[in-house]
Amino acid sequence: MKKTTKKALKKAAKKAAPKKSLAKTVRAKKPVARAKVAPKASLRASLKPAPVTAVPLLDPRRANNAIEGKLKAAFDRCLKHGQFINGPEVEAFEKQCADYMGVEHAIGVSSGTDALIVAMMALDVKAGDEVICPTYTFFATAGSIWRTGAKPVFVDIKPRCMNVDPDLIAKEITPRTKAIIPVHLFGQCAEMEPILDVARAKGIPVIEDCAQAIGAEYQGRRAGSIGTVGCFSFFPSKNVGGFGDGGLVTTKEGALAQRIRALRNHGGLQQYTHNEVGGNFRLDALQAALLAPKLEHADQYTAARQKNAQLYTDLFVQAGVGAPDQGEPACSVHCHRASVPQDMPMLLPAACQSRHVYNQYVVRVRGQGQRDALQAALKAKNIGSAVYYPRPMHLQPCFASLGFREGDMPVSEAAARESLALPIYSELTEAELRYVVEAVVSFFNPKA
Ligand SMILES: Cc1ncc(COP(=O)(O)O)c(C=O)c1O
Repeated sequence: MKKTTKKALKKAAKKAAPKKSLAKTVRAKKPVARAKVAPKASLRASLKPAPVTAVPLLDPRRANNAIEGKLKAAFDRCLKHGQFINGPEVEAFEKQCADYMGVEHAIGVSSGTDALIVAMMALDVKAGDEVICPTYTFFATAGSIWRTGAKPVFVDIKPRCMNVDPDLIAKEITPRTKAIIPVHLFGQCAEMEPILDVARAKGIPVIEDCAQAIGAEYQGRRAGSIGTVGCFSFFPSKNVGGFGDGGLVTTKEGALAQRIRALRNHGGLQQYTHNEVGGNFRLDALQAALLAPKLEHADQYTAARQKNAQLYTDLFVQAGVGAPDQGEPACSVHCHRASVPQDMPMLLPAACQSRHVYNQYVVRVRGQGQRDALQAALKAKNIGSAVYYPRPMHLQPCFASLGFREGDMPVSEAAARESLALPIYSELTEAELRYVVEAVVSFFNPKA
Protein backbone atom coordinates (compact mmCIF):
# COMPACT_ATOMS: atom_id res chain seq x y z
CA MET A 1 0.00 0.00 0.00
CA LYS A 2 1.28 3.49 -0.85
CA LYS A 3 2.43 5.67 2.06
CA THR A 4 0.00 8.45 1.19
CA THR A 5 -2.91 6.07 1.13
CA LYS A 6 -1.89 4.64 4.50
CA LYS A 7 -1.73 8.10 5.94
CA ALA A 8 -5.09 9.05 4.51
CA LEU A 9 -6.71 5.93 5.90
CA LYS A 10 -5.24 6.58 9.37
CA LYS A 11 -6.66 10.12 9.26
CA ALA A 12 -10.06 8.88 8.17
CA ALA A 13 -10.10 6.24 10.90
CA LYS A 14 -9.26 8.86 13.52
CA LYS A 15 -12.09 11.04 12.23
CA ALA A 16 -14.54 8.17 12.28
CA ALA A 17 -13.64 7.07 15.82
CA PRO A 18 -16.09 8.39 18.46
CA LYS A 19 -14.79 11.15 20.78
CA LYS A 20 -13.84 10.03 24.26
CA SER A 21 -17.05 11.28 25.92
CA LEU A 22 -19.22 9.71 23.24
CA ALA A 23 -17.20 6.54 23.37
CA LYS A 24 -17.85 6.41 27.11
CA THR A 25 -21.64 6.53 26.68
CA VAL A 26 -21.60 3.97 23.85
CA ARG A 27 -19.47 1.65 25.94
CA ALA A 28 -22.18 0.93 28.55
CA LYS A 29 -20.39 -1.90 30.25
CA LYS A 30 -16.87 -3.11 30.36
CA PRO A 31 -16.83 -6.08 28.04
CA VAL A 32 -16.32 -9.35 29.84
CA ALA A 33 -12.82 -10.57 29.18
CA ARG A 34 -12.78 -13.60 26.90
CA ALA A 35 -11.12 -16.70 28.28
CA LYS A 36 -7.86 -17.16 26.44
CA VAL A 37 -7.50 -20.82 27.35
CA ALA A 38 -7.60 -23.26 24.49
CA PRO A 39 -10.67 -25.54 24.47
CA LYS A 40 -10.07 -28.89 26.09
CA ALA A 41 -9.53 -31.81 23.75
CA SER A 42 -12.99 -33.25 24.52
CA LEU A 43 -14.66 -29.91 23.66
CA ARG A 44 -12.59 -29.60 20.47
CA ALA A 45 -13.75 -33.06 19.45
CA SER A 46 -17.37 -32.17 20.09
CA LEU A 47 -17.07 -29.06 17.88
CA LYS A 48 -15.93 -31.16 14.93
CA PRO A 49 -18.72 -32.71 12.83
CA ALA A 50 -19.09 -36.33 13.88
CA PRO A 51 -17.75 -38.75 11.27
CA VAL A 52 -20.47 -40.34 9.19
CA THR A 53 -21.14 -43.93 10.18
CA ALA A 54 -24.61 -44.46 8.72
CA VAL A 55 -26.76 -43.07 5.91
CA PRO A 56 -30.45 -43.93 5.74
CA LEU A 57 -32.08 -44.34 2.33
CA LEU A 58 -34.58 -41.69 3.35
CA ASP A 59 -35.13 -39.43 6.33
CA PRO A 60 -38.33 -37.37 5.91
CA ARG A 61 -37.85 -35.78 9.33
CA ARG A 62 -35.09 -33.55 8.02
CA ALA A 63 -37.22 -31.67 5.47
CA ASN A 64 -40.11 -31.55 7.89
CA ASN A 65 -38.05 -30.29 10.82
CA ALA A 66 -36.69 -27.48 8.65
CA ILE A 67 -40.22 -26.06 8.30
CA GLU A 68 -41.53 -27.13 11.69
CA GLY A 69 -42.96 -23.67 12.43
CA LYS A 70 -45.04 -23.58 9.23
CA LEU A 71 -46.28 -27.13 9.79
CA LYS A 72 -47.31 -26.45 13.38
CA ALA A 73 -49.09 -23.26 12.29
CA ALA A 74 -51.01 -25.25 9.63
CA PHE A 75 -51.98 -27.86 12.21
CA ASP A 76 -53.10 -25.18 14.69
CA ARG A 77 -55.18 -23.52 11.98
CA CYS A 78 -57.03 -26.79 11.30
CA LEU A 79 -57.46 -27.39 15.01
CA LYS A 80 -59.11 -23.99 15.31
CA HIS A 81 -61.44 -24.08 12.29
CA GLY A 82 -62.25 -27.78 12.64
CA GLN A 83 -63.11 -28.35 8.98
CA PHE A 84 -61.42 -31.65 8.23
CA ILE A 85 -63.26 -32.79 5.07
CA ASN A 86 -62.99 -30.70 1.87
CA GLY A 87 -63.24 -26.94 2.47
CA PRO A 88 -60.73 -24.09 2.17
CA GLU A 89 -57.54 -26.01 3.02
CA VAL A 90 -58.13 -28.48 0.19
CA GLU A 91 -59.24 -25.78 -2.23
CA ALA A 92 -56.19 -23.60 -1.50
CA PHE A 93 -53.81 -26.55 -1.91
CA GLU A 94 -55.48 -27.59 -5.17
CA LYS A 95 -55.04 -24.06 -6.54
CA GLN A 96 -51.37 -24.07 -5.48
CA CYS A 97 -50.87 -27.43 -7.23
CA ALA A 98 -52.65 -26.32 -10.41
CA ASP A 99 -50.36 -23.28 -10.61
CA TYR A 100 -47.26 -25.36 -9.91
CA MET A 101 -48.10 -27.95 -12.54
CA GLY A 102 -49.36 -25.53 -15.16
CA VAL A 103 -52.90 -26.91 -15.45
CA GLU A 104 -56.37 -25.50 -14.99
CA HIS A 105 -57.63 -28.18 -12.60
CA ALA A 106 -56.07 -30.08 -9.72
CA ILE A 107 -58.19 -32.39 -7.57
CA GLY A 108 -56.86 -33.67 -4.27
CA VAL A 109 -57.42 -37.39 -3.66
CA SER A 110 -56.57 -39.98 -1.03
CA SER A 111 -53.42 -41.48 -2.63
CA GLY A 112 -51.52 -41.88 -5.88
CA THR A 113 -53.19 -45.25 -6.36
CA ASP A 114 -56.64 -43.71 -5.97
CA ALA A 115 -55.64 -40.92 -8.35
CA LEU A 116 -55.07 -43.59 -11.04
CA ILE A 117 -58.30 -45.41 -10.22
CA VAL A 118 -60.46 -42.30 -10.20
CA ALA A 119 -58.82 -41.04 -13.42
CA MET A 120 -59.64 -44.32 -15.16
CA MET A 121 -63.19 -44.31 -13.79
CA ALA A 122 -63.66 -40.79 -15.16
CA LEU A 123 -62.43 -42.00 -18.54
CA ASP A 124 -64.91 -44.90 -18.47
CA VAL A 125 -62.28 -47.63 -18.30
CA LYS A 126 -64.06 -50.86 -17.42
CA ALA A 127 -64.13 -54.64 -17.74
CA GLY A 128 -63.22 -55.82 -21.23
CA ASP A 129 -61.04 -52.77 -21.93
CA GLU A 130 -57.26 -52.75 -22.27
CA VAL A 131 -54.89 -50.22 -20.76
CA ILE A 132 -51.23 -50.09 -21.84
CA CYS A 133 -48.54 -49.44 -19.23
CA PRO A 134 -44.85 -50.27 -18.70
CA THR A 135 -44.08 -53.54 -16.99
CA TYR A 136 -41.25 -51.87 -15.08
CA THR A 137 -43.07 -49.70 -12.54
CA PHE A 138 -44.43 -49.68 -9.01
CA PHE A 139 -47.29 -52.14 -8.57
CA ALA A 140 -49.96 -49.43 -8.20
CA THR A 141 -49.87 -48.60 -11.92
CA ALA A 142 -50.83 -52.12 -12.94
CA GLY A 143 -52.93 -52.90 -9.86
CA SER A 144 -55.24 -49.94 -10.44
CA ILE A 145 -55.85 -50.99 -14.05
CA TRP A 146 -56.79 -54.47 -12.83
CA ARG A 147 -59.12 -53.04 -10.19
CA THR A 148 -61.20 -51.24 -12.85
CA GLY A 149 -61.77 -54.66 -14.44
CA ALA A 150 -59.64 -53.77 -17.47
CA LYS A 151 -56.68 -55.81 -18.67
CA PRO A 152 -53.21 -54.32 -18.20
CA VAL A 153 -51.20 -54.62 -21.40
CA PHE A 154 -47.56 -54.57 -20.40
CA VAL A 155 -44.79 -53.24 -22.60
CA ASP A 156 -41.05 -53.13 -22.15
CA ILE A 157 -38.93 -50.07 -21.35
CA LYS A 158 -36.03 -48.27 -22.98
CA PRO A 159 -32.61 -49.35 -21.78
CA ARG A 160 -31.27 -45.94 -20.82
CA CYS A 161 -33.98 -43.86 -19.16
CA MET A 162 -35.89 -47.00 -18.08
CA ASN A 163 -39.15 -45.38 -19.18
CA VAL A 164 -41.73 -47.02 -21.40
CA ASP A 165 -40.76 -47.59 -25.04
CA PRO A 166 -43.18 -45.62 -27.29
CA ASP A 167 -42.53 -47.91 -30.28
CA LEU A 168 -43.77 -50.89 -28.30
CA ILE A 169 -46.89 -49.00 -27.21
CA ALA A 170 -47.79 -48.40 -30.85
CA LYS A 171 -47.59 -52.16 -31.50
CA GLU A 172 -50.03 -53.00 -28.68
CA ILE A 173 -52.92 -50.71 -29.68
CA THR A 174 -56.13 -52.64 -30.40
CA PRO A 175 -59.78 -51.57 -30.75
CA ARG A 176 -60.12 -52.33 -27.02
CA THR A 177 -57.33 -49.96 -25.92
CA LYS A 178 -59.03 -47.48 -23.60
CA ALA A 179 -56.03 -45.62 -22.18
CA ILE A 180 -52.23 -45.45 -22.17
CA ILE A 181 -50.38 -44.90 -18.89
CA PRO A 182 -46.76 -43.83 -19.29
CA VAL A 183 -44.93 -43.68 -15.94
CA HIS A 184 -42.42 -40.89 -15.30
CA LEU A 185 -40.07 -43.25 -13.53
CA PHE A 186 -37.66 -42.11 -10.81
CA GLY A 187 -38.46 -38.44 -11.49
CA GLN A 188 -37.87 -38.29 -15.23
CA CYS A 189 -40.62 -37.85 -17.81
CA ALA A 190 -41.29 -40.60 -20.30
CA GLU A 191 -40.78 -39.74 -23.93
CA MET A 192 -44.21 -38.18 -24.32
CA GLU A 193 -44.40 -36.80 -27.87
CA PRO A 194 -44.36 -40.15 -29.73
CA ILE A 195 -46.80 -41.54 -27.16
CA LEU A 196 -49.14 -38.58 -27.69
CA ASP A 197 -48.84 -39.02 -31.47
CA VAL A 198 -50.07 -42.62 -31.24
CA ALA A 199 -52.79 -41.66 -28.79
CA ARG A 200 -54.05 -38.70 -30.83
CA ALA A 201 -54.19 -40.77 -34.00
CA LYS A 202 -56.48 -43.28 -32.28
CA GLY A 203 -58.34 -40.89 -29.94
CA ILE A 204 -57.01 -42.67 -26.85
CA PRO A 205 -56.53 -40.71 -23.60
CA VAL A 206 -53.09 -40.61 -21.96
CA ILE A 207 -52.87 -40.87 -18.17
CA GLU A 208 -49.49 -39.70 -16.89
CA ASP A 209 -48.38 -41.59 -13.79
CA CYS A 210 -46.52 -38.70 -12.16
CA ALA A 211 -46.30 -40.30 -8.71
CA GLN A 212 -42.50 -39.99 -8.71
CA ALA A 213 -42.21 -36.87 -10.82
CA ILE A 214 -43.67 -33.74 -9.25
CA GLY A 215 -42.06 -30.76 -11.01
CA ALA A 216 -40.39 -32.88 -13.72
CA GLU A 217 -40.52 -31.47 -17.24
CA TYR A 218 -40.65 -32.79 -20.77
CA GLN A 219 -39.66 -30.24 -23.43
CA GLY A 220 -40.41 -27.50 -20.90
CA ARG A 221 -43.86 -28.85 -20.02
CA ARG A 222 -44.56 -29.94 -16.46
CA ALA A 223 -45.46 -33.53 -15.64
CA GLY A 224 -49.22 -33.74 -15.27
CA SER A 225 -49.87 -31.07 -17.90
CA ILE A 226 -48.85 -33.11 -20.95
CA GLY A 227 -51.41 -35.90 -21.28
CA THR A 228 -55.17 -36.01 -20.69
CA VAL A 229 -54.79 -36.53 -16.94
CA GLY A 230 -51.88 -36.55 -14.48
CA CYS A 231 -51.81 -38.64 -11.30
CA PHE A 232 -49.58 -37.68 -8.36
CA SER A 233 -48.68 -39.22 -5.01
CA PHE A 234 -47.73 -37.50 -1.77
CA PHE A 235 -46.47 -40.70 -0.15
CA PRO A 236 -43.80 -39.62 2.39
CA SER A 237 -40.89 -40.79 0.18
CA LYS A 238 -41.93 -38.58 -2.73
CA ASN A 239 -40.21 -35.27 -3.44
CA VAL A 240 -43.16 -33.47 -1.88
CA GLY A 241 -43.83 -36.04 0.82
CA GLY A 242 -46.90 -35.88 3.00
CA PHE A 243 -47.76 -37.04 6.49
CA GLY A 244 -49.49 -40.24 5.48
CA ASP A 245 -51.19 -41.01 2.18
CA GLY A 246 -52.34 -38.41 -0.31
CA GLY A 247 -52.62 -37.87 -4.04
CA LEU A 248 -53.77 -35.53 -6.78
CA VAL A 249 -55.27 -35.62 -10.25
CA THR A 250 -54.57 -32.86 -12.75
CA THR A 251 -56.23 -32.04 -16.04
CA LYS A 252 -56.87 -29.16 -18.40
CA GLU A 253 -60.35 -30.45 -19.27
CA GLY A 254 -63.15 -28.86 -17.25
CA ALA A 255 -65.76 -31.59 -17.75
CA LEU A 256 -63.30 -34.30 -16.78
CA ALA A 257 -62.27 -32.36 -13.67
CA GLN A 258 -65.91 -32.01 -12.66
CA ARG A 259 -66.46 -35.75 -13.02
CA ILE A 260 -63.34 -36.57 -11.01
CA ARG A 261 -64.51 -34.21 -8.24
CA ALA A 262 -67.81 -36.05 -8.10
CA LEU A 263 -66.25 -39.52 -8.29
CA ARG A 264 -63.89 -38.83 -5.37
CA ASN A 265 -66.99 -37.98 -3.32
CA HIS A 266 -69.22 -41.03 -3.89
CA GLY A 267 -70.21 -39.77 -7.32
CA GLY A 268 -71.99 -36.65 -6.13
CA LEU A 269 -71.26 -32.96 -5.91
CA GLN A 270 -74.48 -32.32 -4.06
CA GLN A 271 -75.00 -34.03 -0.72
CA TYR A 272 -77.15 -37.17 -0.94
CA THR A 273 -77.49 -36.96 -4.73
CA HIS A 274 -75.32 -39.51 -6.54
CA ASN A 275 -75.25 -39.29 -10.32
CA GLU A 276 -72.99 -42.32 -10.46
CA VAL A 277 -71.16 -44.63 -8.09
CA GLY A 278 -67.84 -43.22 -7.01
CA GLY A 279 -65.91 -43.73 -3.80
CA ASN A 280 -64.38 -41.96 -0.88
CA PHE A 281 -61.21 -40.79 -2.59
CA ARG A 282 -60.90 -37.47 -0.76
CA LEU A 283 -57.68 -35.79 0.35
CA ASP A 284 -57.90 -34.90 4.07
CA ALA A 285 -58.00 -31.17 4.80
CA LEU A 286 -55.28 -31.63 7.42
CA GLN A 287 -53.08 -33.39 4.86
CA ALA A 288 -53.66 -30.55 2.37
CA ALA A 289 -52.82 -27.94 5.01
CA LEU A 290 -49.54 -29.69 5.85
CA LEU A 291 -48.63 -30.32 2.22
CA ALA A 292 -49.04 -26.67 1.21
CA PRO A 293 -45.80 -25.47 2.90
CA LYS A 294 -43.97 -28.51 1.52
CA LEU A 295 -45.03 -27.63 -2.03
CA GLU A 296 -43.69 -24.10 -1.46
CA HIS A 297 -40.26 -25.71 -1.12
CA ALA A 298 -40.58 -28.13 -4.06
CA ASP A 299 -38.09 -26.31 -6.29
CA GLN A 300 -35.56 -26.12 -3.49
CA TYR A 301 -35.93 -29.89 -2.91
CA THR A 302 -35.48 -30.51 -6.64
CA ALA A 303 -32.36 -28.33 -6.84
CA ALA A 304 -30.77 -30.17 -3.90
CA ARG A 305 -31.59 -33.58 -5.42
CA GLN A 306 -30.14 -32.51 -8.78
CA LYS A 307 -26.98 -31.30 -7.02
CA ASN A 308 -26.65 -34.61 -5.17
CA ALA A 309 -27.17 -36.55 -8.40
CA GLN A 310 -24.48 -34.53 -10.16
CA LEU A 311 -22.02 -35.04 -7.31
CA TYR A 312 -22.65 -38.80 -7.25
CA THR A 313 -22.11 -38.95 -11.01
CA ASP A 314 -18.94 -36.82 -10.90
CA LEU A 315 -17.41 -38.83 -8.05
CA PHE A 316 -18.25 -42.22 -9.58
CA VAL A 317 -16.83 -41.13 -12.93
CA GLN A 318 -13.69 -39.75 -11.23
CA ALA A 319 -13.23 -43.04 -9.37
CA GLY A 320 -13.65 -44.96 -12.61
CA VAL A 321 -16.47 -47.16 -11.30
CA GLY A 322 -19.32 -45.76 -13.37
CA ALA A 323 -20.32 -43.86 -16.47
CA PRO A 324 -23.54 -42.10 -17.31
CA ASP A 325 -25.52 -44.19 -19.73
CA GLN A 326 -25.60 -41.55 -22.44
CA GLY A 327 -25.14 -41.87 -26.15
CA GLU A 328 -27.44 -39.74 -28.22
CA PRO A 329 -28.04 -36.24 -26.85
CA ALA A 330 -31.73 -36.76 -26.22
CA CYS A 331 -33.95 -39.71 -25.44
CA SER A 332 -34.74 -40.54 -29.02
CA VAL A 333 -35.24 -43.53 -31.20
CA HIS A 334 -31.58 -44.41 -30.77
CA CYS A 335 -31.71 -45.32 -27.12
CA HIS A 336 -28.91 -47.77 -26.51
CA ARG A 337 -26.17 -48.60 -24.07
CA ALA A 338 -23.27 -48.82 -26.44
CA SER A 339 -21.63 -45.66 -25.10
CA VAL A 340 -20.59 -47.31 -21.83
CA PRO A 341 -17.53 -49.58 -22.00
CA GLN A 342 -18.27 -53.19 -21.12
CA ASP A 343 -15.73 -53.25 -18.27
CA MET A 344 -17.41 -50.33 -16.45
CA PRO A 345 -19.11 -51.91 -13.43
CA MET A 346 -21.92 -49.36 -13.08
CA LEU A 347 -24.21 -47.49 -15.43
CA LEU A 348 -25.21 -44.17 -13.93
CA PRO A 349 -28.60 -42.54 -14.45
CA ALA A 350 -29.05 -40.67 -17.69
CA ALA A 351 -30.89 -37.35 -17.68
CA CYS A 352 -32.55 -37.47 -21.08
CA GLN A 353 -35.42 -35.03 -20.50
CA SER A 354 -35.43 -31.33 -19.74
CA ARG A 355 -35.99 -31.51 -15.95
CA HIS A 356 -35.21 -34.69 -14.03
CA VAL A 357 -36.27 -34.28 -10.38
CA TYR A 358 -34.44 -37.39 -9.10
CA ASN A 359 -37.01 -38.96 -6.85
CA GLN A 360 -34.48 -41.76 -7.04
CA TYR A 361 -30.84 -42.02 -8.12
CA VAL A 362 -30.76 -45.50 -9.57
CA VAL A 363 -27.50 -47.10 -10.68
CA ARG A 364 -27.32 -50.27 -12.74
CA VAL A 365 -24.78 -52.76 -11.44
CA ARG A 366 -23.39 -55.07 -14.11
CA GLY A 367 -22.47 -58.70 -13.55
CA GLN A 368 -24.43 -61.59 -12.15
CA GLY A 369 -25.18 -61.17 -8.45
CA GLN A 370 -23.13 -57.98 -8.24
CA ARG A 371 -26.09 -55.70 -7.45
CA ASP A 372 -27.11 -57.81 -4.46
CA ALA A 373 -23.49 -58.07 -3.31
CA LEU A 374 -23.11 -54.28 -3.48
CA GLN A 375 -26.33 -53.82 -1.54
CA ALA A 376 -25.07 -56.20 1.16
CA ALA A 377 -21.74 -54.32 1.32
CA LEU A 378 -23.60 -51.03 1.75
CA LYS A 379 -25.80 -52.52 4.44
CA ALA A 380 -22.69 -53.65 6.32
CA LYS A 381 -21.68 -49.97 6.42
CA ASN A 382 -25.15 -48.90 7.57
CA ILE A 383 -26.07 -47.40 4.21
CA GLY A 384 -29.66 -47.71 3.07
CA SER A 385 -30.39 -48.66 -0.53
CA ALA A 386 -33.34 -50.22 -2.33
CA VAL A 387 -34.15 -52.30 -5.36
CA TYR A 388 -36.77 -50.55 -7.46
CA TYR A 389 -38.08 -53.00 -8.70
CA PRO A 390 -36.98 -56.62 -8.30
CA ARG A 391 -39.91 -58.12 -10.27
CA PRO A 392 -41.56 -56.47 -13.26
CA MET A 393 -45.35 -56.51 -13.52
CA HIS A 394 -45.58 -59.16 -16.24
CA LEU A 395 -43.93 -61.66 -13.84
CA GLN A 396 -46.10 -60.88 -10.80
CA PRO A 397 -48.00 -63.93 -9.50
CA CYS A 398 -51.32 -62.03 -9.49
CA PHE A 399 -51.04 -61.46 -13.25
CA ALA A 400 -50.07 -65.05 -14.09
CA SER A 401 -53.34 -65.49 -16.00
CA LEU A 402 -52.00 -63.05 -18.61
CA GLY A 403 -49.55 -65.77 -19.61
CA PHE A 404 -46.21 -63.96 -19.57
CA ARG A 405 -42.90 -65.78 -19.07
CA GLU A 406 -39.41 -64.84 -18.11
CA GLY A 407 -37.63 -63.49 -21.17
CA ASP A 408 -40.73 -61.78 -22.60
CA MET A 409 -39.59 -58.28 -21.54
CA PRO A 410 -35.79 -58.51 -21.57
CA VAL A 411 -34.97 -54.84 -20.92
CA SER A 412 -37.18 -54.68 -17.83
CA GLU A 413 -35.93 -58.02 -16.58
CA ALA A 414 -32.33 -56.81 -16.87
CA ALA A 415 -33.27 -53.61 -15.04
CA ALA A 416 -34.85 -55.69 -12.27
CA ARG A 417 -31.58 -57.63 -11.87
CA GLU A 418 -29.28 -54.59 -11.98
CA SER A 419 -31.01 -51.59 -10.40
CA LEU A 420 -30.07 -50.14 -7.06
CA ALA A 421 -31.31 -46.84 -5.61
CA LEU A 422 -28.89 -44.86 -3.44
CA PRO A 423 -29.84 -42.18 -0.88
CA ILE A 424 -30.62 -38.94 -2.77
CA TYR A 425 -32.97 -36.91 -0.54
CA SER A 426 -32.56 -33.16 -0.53
CA GLU A 427 -31.10 -32.87 2.99
CA LEU A 428 -28.40 -35.50 2.44
CA THR A 429 -25.12 -33.87 3.50
CA GLU A 430 -22.05 -33.89 1.29
CA ALA A 431 -20.20 -35.90 3.97
CA GLU A 432 -22.95 -38.54 3.88
CA LEU A 433 -22.91 -38.66 0.10
CA ARG A 434 -19.12 -39.07 0.08
CA TYR A 435 -19.45 -41.86 2.66
CA VAL A 436 -21.82 -43.67 0.26
CA VAL A 437 -19.45 -43.10 -2.67
CA GLU A 438 -16.47 -44.39 -0.67
CA ALA A 439 -18.39 -47.53 0.23
CA VAL A 440 -19.37 -48.13 -3.41
CA VAL A 441 -15.85 -47.47 -4.69
CA SER A 442 -14.24 -49.74 -2.10
CA PHE A 443 -16.69 -52.49 -3.08
CA PHE A 444 -15.43 -52.38 -6.66
CA ASN A 445 -11.76 -51.59 -5.81
CA PRO A 446 -11.15 -53.16 -2.41
CA LYS A 447 -7.40 -52.42 -2.60
CA ALA A 448 -7.67 -48.76 -3.67
C1 LIG B 1 -45.11 -45.05 -10.21
C2 LIG B 1 -46.08 -45.02 -9.06
N1 LIG B 1 -47.40 -45.04 -9.32
C3 LIG B 1 -48.30 -45.00 -8.33
C4 LIG B 1 -47.93 -44.95 -7.01
C5 LIG B 1 -48.98 -45.01 -5.95
O1 LIG B 1 -48.95 -43.93 -5.07
P1 LIG B 1 -49.49 -44.11 -3.58
O2 LIG B 1 -48.48 -44.88 -2.80
O3 LIG B 1 -49.64 -42.70 -3.08
O4 LIG B 1 -50.78 -44.81 -3.64
C6 LIG B 1 -46.57 -44.92 -6.69
C7 LIG B 1 -46.13 -44.86 -5.30
O5 LIG B 1 -45.03 -45.17 -4.93
C8 LIG B 1 -45.62 -44.97 -7.74
O6 LIG B 1 -44.30 -44.94 -7.49
